[in-house]
Amino acid sequence: MNKIFFAGLVCSCTALTSATSLADYKNPLLSAEMRAEDLLTRMTLTEKVGQMCQYVGIEHIKKSEKYLTLEEMQSGDAHGMYPNLHSSKMPDLIRRGEIGSFLHVVDPKEANQLQQYASESRMGIPLIIGIDAIHGNGLVNGSTIYPSPLTMASSWNLDLVRQANIETAIEMRANGAQWTFTPNIDIARDPRWGRVGETFGEDTFLVSEMGVAVIEGLQQGDFIGDQKVLANAKHFVAGGEPINGLNLSPMDVSLRSLKQDHFPPFKRAVDAGVFSFMAAHNEVNGVPAHANRFLFTEVLREDWGFEGFVVSDWMDIERLNGLHRVAENQTEAVYQAVDAGLDMHMHGPNFLKPLVNLVKQGRISEARINAAVKPILIAKFRLGLFEKAQVNADAASDIMFNANHQQTALELARQGIVLLKNDQLLPLAAGQKIFVTGPNANNHTLMGDWVFKQPEENIITVVEGLKAVAKPSTSIDYFDLGEQIKTLDPKLFVEAAERAKAADVAIVVVGSNALRYDRKGKTAGENVARSTINLYGEQLALVQAIHASGTPTVVVLINSRPLAEPWLVDNVDALIEAWEPGALGGQALAEIIFGEVNPSGKLPITIPRSVGHLQAIYNHKPSTYVRRYVDAPTKNLYEFGDGLSYTEFTYSRPTLSASRITEDESTRLSVTVTNSGDRAGDEVVQLYIRDNVSRVTRPVKELKGFQRIHLKAKQSQKITFDITPDTLAYYDLDMNWRVEPGTFTLMVGSSSRKSDLKKITLKVKP
Ligand code: BGC
Repeated sequence: MNKIFFAGLVCSCTALTSATSLADYKNPLLSAEMRAEDLLTRMTLTEKVGQMCQYVGIEHIKKSEKYLTLEEMQSGDAHGMYPNLHSSKMPDLIRRGEIGSFLHVVDPKEANQLQQYASESRMGIPLIIGIDAIHGNGLVNGSTIYPSPLTMASSWNLDLVRQANIETAIEMRANGAQWTFTPNIDIARDPRWGRVGETFGEDTFLVSEMGVAVIEGLQQGDFIGDQKVLANAKHFVAGGEPINGLNLSPMDVSLRSLKQDHFPPFKRAVDAGVFSFMAAHNEVNGVPAHANRFLFTEVLREDWGFEGFVVSDWMDIERLNGLHRVAENQTEAVYQAVDAGLDMHMHGPNFLKPLVNLVKQGRISEARINAAVKPILIAKFRLGLFEKAQVNADAASDIMFNANHQQTALELARQGIVLLKNDQLLPLAAGQKIFVTGPNANNHTLMGDWVFKQPEENIITVVEGLKAVAKPSTSIDYFDLGEQIKTLDPKLFVEAAERAKAADVAIVVVGSNALRYDRKGKTAGENVARSTINLYGEQLALVQAIHASGTPTVVVLINSRPLAEPWLVDNVDALIEAWEPGALGGQALAEIIFGEVNPSGKLPITIPRSVGHLQAIYNHKPSTYVRRYVDAPTKNLYEFGDGLSYTEFTYSRPTLSASRITEDESTRLSVTVTNSGDRAGDEVVQLYIRDNVSRVTRPVKELKGFQRIHLKAKQSQKITFDITPDTLAYYDLDMNWRVEPGTFTLMVGSSSRKSDLKKITLKVKP
């Protein structure tokens, strides 16, 4: 017999014998569910509870230990280090099986080291490593930084958002992380709130669609394998409408609003298979989300059938005692959280012992612990971690920020930037002298929040983009008056205005700064709320000085939430809301300014006139604007869905396949959209409904569909929308989800503005 063949035979027989003698949980041929069940039977109570414990990475703790005093550490919980637990003790905790997960691990070598410790534990259960990869894996150096979620939402392009998240998953896995705390599907109804930029805006339907696209991209179904990651629907629920606009402050919201406005994106996330949830910092109607049984047991598991696991937000179980005062002490806090339905503690040592004791005392059943741990183990099996937890740390840099990923980031920026005003100034013709200034013109704020410092060469600032895209005959004169919004010096404005005067066009780049590594300079981002929502500091004075020079002025906003500055709208010649277009945003912006790309982004959020005009949402109730303000116009500056183009789109009268239907029937709306201008462009066709008479009041408009299309000059396309019972239904007087007979106005067009919408009536017979 051929020796090689014989050797092969022996090997495969041995493999077969050892596969059958393997413990079930070690057998990769069995399902993740079967393996998890088997493993659970072999674990001690402490090992099980260990799986429910998350910690920040050892390097993160070490950094905090190095830079923080004991007092600083004890005065806040934002830094991620533990009083009484030195980083040197961590390896042993992991080896004892008392940690199941980490977050804030930003180096694949560290991830490998942590997994190595875990493999030395009695059961050798790998760790699941989570990170905030909100728009790219931005906390890791060298990642692709995609546009912020609000910018993504402005593209209304679900395919691109899905693709960006497929790529994010690949970059994460290359760095040893398998779980991202995204999508943030909070409904952002208060622009004072610092986190608006990391949401998909104010509309339940758009947020739901975006959330599903993110989940589909990250998890790609079952997340089996080593290229996909676990997604996380957060924050459950209603934190996007906090009183005062301050992060973490209470939410008092009716059950009706919870059900119709805040729950739907989360329900859709569950239907899309999202495998983890995060509780919101805030209380909901008097009960902190972290102790809210109604939310996490009744709604999430019992009504919606969620089968994954729930993680707490940063130290929020501790806050049940320390802040909300609903628990006497940490043990009671842990009891309330686990009893409510939370399965994992973010983060630190104050969880394992209290929970083990609660089980020993019989207050929490071991069945509850098994129910919490099983999905955590299932996730680890599906992610392939039991077979391979280590990554090739040297390969990560080739995978990150590769040419394909850059292309997606750039395309999303092109499609997400919104042109708000254009008095025939844009696009700029070649051969002009262009003056550029402003604090955000040449800095990195265009990356947005949830990003640590990135290599200079990976970022294209606005100035760099303009220089790269401008034709040789165009000159760019950049005046650097400092890159910090907060410390702008008005003395420099005089010189800036003089230089602007000598130019054909001026571009002023202002806005906000959400860079979390720039602690002093930040004016937006997590925990950075504002009591006003106009341009911060001296920025308006800068724009006014440049405008007074008489040179036609373009204002570019690099910012993360609606900015209420009526003067800009009334005075400047062109206004671009670029949001936070990501690391390549400067190029996309320049392509739009010079007309190489036709602007096509549409606002996913209303822009109010002032902070006093809040709440400003397009889907308000019929009585909201019956009365007017005496001291200011009542109208918003810009409406939801607004966004200009260099070409023009016209809409035919919509038609219906059936204009009279019964409550359980569907119909189809058709409309023909024509690009009547002379250049190709994208349009976002939006469908809204109004229930003309309903027993419970309904919004004056509700977005129910959208399609992004590309049309060449003079090209037309027929667009259809299916109008199903779900499109028309609402929660009636008895809180039943149903279609009430009567008439509905269906509206289709290029924004939520009345003047942009074509209407047709649909009758629903009893
Ligand atoms: C935020 C979460 C985030 C977590 C971990 C918290 O402060 O609210 O959204 O996922 O930190 O970084």
